[in-house]
Amino acid sequence: MKILVTGGAGFIGSALVRHLIENTEDYVLNVDKLTYAGNPESVANVAGHPRYSFEQADICDKSAIEKIFAKHQPDVVMHLAAESHVDRSISGPADFITTNIVGTAVLLEIARAYWHALEPQRKRHFRFHHISTDEVYGDLPHPDTWSGNKDALPLFTEQSAYAPSSPYSASKASSDHLVRAWHRTYGMPTIITNCSNNYGPYHFPEKLIPLTILNALAGKALPIYGRGDQIRDWLYVEDHVRALYLVVTQGQVGETYNIGGNNEKKNVQVVETICDLLDTLLPAAAPYRRLITYVTDRPGHDRRYAIDASKIRDELNWKPRETFETGIHKTILWYLNHQSWVEHVKSGAYQAWMKQNYEQR
Ligand SMILES: NC(=O)c1ccc[n+]([C@@H]2O[C@H](COP(=O)([O-])OP(=O)(O)OC[C@H]3O[C@@H](n4cnc5c(N)ncnc54)[C@H](O)[C@@H]3O)[C@@H](O)[C@H]2O)c1
Repeated sequence: MKILVTGGAGFIGSALVRHLIENTEDYVLNVDKLTYAGNPESVANVAGHPRYSFEQADICDKSAIEKIFAKHQPDVVMHLAAESHVDRSISGPADFITTNIVGTAVLLEIARAYWHALEPQRKRHFRFHHISTDEVYGDLPHPDTWSGNKDALPLFTEQSAYAPSSPYSASKASSDHLVRAWHRTYGMPTIITNCSNNYGPYHFPEKLIPLTILNALAGKALPIYGRGDQIRDWLYVEDHVRALYLVVTQGQVGETYNIGGNNEKKNVQVVETICDLLDTLLPAAAPYRRLITYVTDRPGHDRRYAIDASKIRDELNWKPRETFETGIHKTILWYLNHQSWVEHVKSGAYQAWMKQNYEQR
């Protein structure tokens, strides 16, 4: 197969590209605009591979994307390109509407015309896989305020109603609706996956886990929103990309699959775990927990996300290989051993935004 991956220079996209080149026989075309979040160094170890190619393009640019489809003739599209940071969506939602909604619509229309014109066998096997988030479902009851049985707290299933809270999650929900409509209306062979919070190597250091690791190493404050009691279900990125490949090769057209790590943690627990691991891996003069700083909560902050991943487990025999404890250990070691990636990723855009949002608090 030739797989067109959008957003393949980002965090999850680059993990997918590396996985496809290293573990399958497939050809990979990476289409990425290279925004502040896209980093060619994240795919540097596969860049010279004969089954890998790259096109720098904006998914909103109809003519550029049409030319890419005509030139590369993909069998499958895995669509990850997006603006992905909730805080940025709050301070500037326009790019989220443009890339996540308009960009997805442009891609769908080009893929539809392309798919329609394929000869029957290739047409039958074509897939458009849209990679989305559990944040489209809004938030779930929190154990601190749940009066029922704490072992029976609700989880997001594929039937959960959409109730996005942030401009980011609303734009992703909107793109999910478009993809579903293109299947229902035009019969396009689409599949959607909604995944919980990812973490792991090559994660851009504006997100909680890499931000905490790198600020701790630099002796800077470790910002935690509100009381730090928001709960996320953490999944190691390599477990996510294995799930994505299973879905695109074996999943049912028109279906949605939820993907999660079964690792619910409060944000403060995540930060404390990183501090404690760093205390053993790279002891400082005083424990890293001293750097924890509580900052004003994010507006509209969802309290809890948690995924019921039984459908992908039962139908496609997927389950995560990493627990939070093993995955976070690997992640911290990766950051300790890849300081040059970190230095290079700290572009001007990143530094200016971080300065404004975190470092002065
Ligand atoms: N990170 C998570 O925890 C998580 C969880 C579930 C789902 N997702 C979804 O997975 C996808 C990837 O997330 P990520 O964390 O890797 O994001 P990321 O921000 O690290 O990477 C996004 C990539 O998309 C590219 N891009 C942005 N706008 C583009 C455009 N207009 N045209 C072409 N390329 C463009 C960027 O250059 C970057 O390489 C997103 O769709 C996100 O919604 C992320």
